[in-house]
Amino acid sequence: LAKAEVDISAIPEGKNVTIKWRGKPVFIRHRTESEIKEADAVSMSDLKDPQNDADRFENREWLVMLGVCTHLGCVPIGEAGDFGGWFCPCHGSHYDISGRARKGPAPTNLEVPVYSLDEGKLVIG
Ligand code: FES
Repeated sequence: LAKAEVDISAIPEGKNVTIKWRGKPVFIRHRTESEIKEADAVSMSDLKDPQNDADRFENREWLVMLGVCTHLGCVPIGEAGDFGGWFCPCHGSHYDISGRARKGPAPTNLEVPVYSLDEGKLVIG
């Protein structure tokens, strides 16, 4: 299946970009140092789908995940919700700055697709 190539070199820190891949939105965020620290500070016991941020993202500066709510598939809104990440308006699921499900009906974290990062170029798929 088709891969998507994205030039991420122009995305400044603290900004979200959404692209389409295989008909689905993919959220890309250039995270700040403090956002990465915030993701690390969360205790696994506070997560319904416990996952370390470091296990989700190889290059922690770059968040790459499917923009598809794990409840029933709506597209969450960025920079929203109670946990500084994403909020799904369909039934009120909150995701943190690592895209992990924190509150509401979403049972699991936002999915991280297969991707690779190389010198400002992101390849998804
Ligand atoms: Fe996102 Fe239901 S589809 S909360």
